[in-house]
Amino acid sequence: MDVLITADAICDRIDRMAGEIGAAYHDGRPLTVVGILTGCLVFMADLIRRIDLPVRVAFITASSYRGEATSPGKLLIRDELLPDIRGRHVLLLDDILDTGKTLTRVVAHLLDRGAETVKAGVLLRKVGRQEVPFEPDFVGFTIPDRFVVGYGLDFNDEYRHLPYIGVLDGPPA
Ligand code: IMP
Ligand code: MG
Repeated sequence: MDVLITADAICDRIDRMAGEIGAAYHDGRPLTVVGILTGCLVFMADLIRRIDLPVRVAFITASSYRGEATSPGKLLIRDELLPDIRGRHVLLLDDILDTGKTLTRVVAHLLDRGAETVKAGVLLRKVGRQEVPFEPDFVGFTIPDRFVVGYGLDFNDEYRHLPYIGVLDGPPA
């Protein structure tokens, strides 16, 4: 597998992202970091340990990729793991911004649940793929339009544990 982003480069960038996030919240109130399962797993674990703010952690499920398909299907949002977020600052984390549909829908869902503010952070943003306008507040890396795995990102639920971002040979882009 070709390595697109090394573990060291991810580590450096996440340090800086945590600083950017700390600087964006000034009112001393706790931040509720909501990760979109399962892709957020590794990114979120590394990022929250570097954020110098009072942080609460929560999860939401949104899945658009089914089984071995690499093209998105219907988006399913489930929020049984979400605590009461009414009046809270929420930072939503996802592994990758592709078409933008997931983040657009989940941000709307969190506002609907009463969040006071919702900012979004992604580890990766693919160029040339966005179908709906969505501007994340924090972006780790901008990457070319390739199917990537590792550091939380999967193909058919495999490869999430890789400590780097790799380009998968085989499946169509
Ligand atoms: P969007 O709704 O099209 O922005 O899709 C975002 C979701 O698609 C992410 O949370 C990932 O689960 C998945 N996804 C998009 N591109 C990739 C990729 O290159 N590798 C693995 N998963 C991807
Ligand atoms: Mg995902």
